[in-house]
Amino acid sequence: MQLDAQTEDPRVSYDERRSRCPVSRDSAGSWTLYRHDDVRSAALDDVAFSSATSRFLQVPNGMDGAEHDLFRALTDRYFEPRRLAALEPVLADVAEDIVAATLGAPTQPEAAADAVELGARFAVRSACDWLGWPRTHERELLDWVAANREASRSGDLTATSAVATWYTNIIRSQTDERRALGERAPADVTTELLGDDFLGRALTDEEITSILRNWTGGDLSSMALCIGVVLAYLADHPQLQARMRAGVSEVEFNAILDEILRIDNPFTSNRRVTTREVALGDERIPAGDRVVLNWTAANRDPEAFGDPDAFSPYLNAPKNLVYGIGRHVCPGRALATMQLRLLTEAVLYRTAEILPDPDRDREREQPPAGGYARVPIVLRR
Ligand code: HEM
Repeated sequence: MQLDAQTEDPRVSYDERRSRCPVSRDSAGSWTLYRHDDVRSAALDDVAFSSATSRFLQVPNGMDGAEHDLFRALTDRYFEPRRLAALEPVLADVAEDIVAATLGAPTQPEAAADAVELGARFAVRSACDWLGWPRTHERELLDWVAANREASRSGDLTATSAVATWYTNIIRSQTDERRALGERAPADVTTELLGDDFLGRALTDEEITSILRNWTGGDLSSMALCIGVVLAYLADHPQLQARMRAGVSEVEFNAILDEILRIDNPFTSNRRVTTREVALGDERIPAGDRVVLNWTAANRDPEAFGDPDAFSPYLNAPKNLVYGIGRHVCPGRALATMQLRLLTEAVLYRTAEILPDPDRDREREQPPAGGYARVPIVLRR
């Protein structure tokens, strides 16, 4: 699907497809599910809808069944509440520093910024601090995020493969350095992963690279896009800003973030492959066909949510699919929510107003990504 990135909102086309052709097959033979019910059932039926869609090793997202569960058991430990609690003050400082730098000198009454770019800087520095990677890598990671977004927009397989290799090299530089240091390696998450025990053996280099790629590669862009969507929504809704500045509980804050992302979900889709024939709506999908679960479309299905743009954090929470559902549900949800909350808090509490920039237009992202490529805002003290 090619859209005019400047003006067109892919959600309009998803909404239309969901009502016209909710289980649709493209010319390459790949199916896309747009309805909430269908996306939910496919995600929950991980036997008929396999995640083994890639020829590359993907830990754990490209795995099924018991193998997937074993790797999830290992990696889920890195997201335990006690670990996130220890990380919170570190990431709160990152958020404060990035927002302070954006605002500039205290004498400056306001500052212009791009919320997506602000989000990318926050995501990259947060990932470095979480994994123990030196902040000197920030520039390269930011360049990589930009190149990765460009490559996925273009759909050019050579470009996609080049950015994938580039990222493998970034990860390997970190793991090689720690292996060379041996006992003197810094005590951080990356070193811990290198020494972790998987069923009585160490993880292979390929497994470690894949895990770290999943924790960062995809997430850096998603986080930047999520921050773009959240700050765009707040800029458009000054009353919600005022309510949040006045103080809401952490539970309510998180529910608000989830609901903003439900309305405009930038993490658009994931893939599956059928292992048997599946009947969905009026269609029969044969075994071995590729299927795309469109979370963005599902999250705006009027059959599940009524008016998809009506803002009802608590009412819509049980059906919200922003972080997926079932066996592959996002293990990083609590971390992602904490990051989003910390950055949003830093912006809200350091400003009196977040405004859309009257002089610069927003730019929508192109499928397969969602949200915005650019969200110009003005931060007023
Ligand atoms: C920024 C916001 C994020 C969103 C919207 C998001 C969304 C999702 C969704 C929808 C899935 C389900 C995939 C599927 O069913 O195939 C998923 C899986 C996953 N996410 Fe996230 N995610 C986010 C952040 C993160 C973070 C911070 C991490 C880790 C640091 C992470 C790591 C993963 C991994 C490893 C999987 C695969 C899980 C599996 O296959 O078992 N995500 N995410």
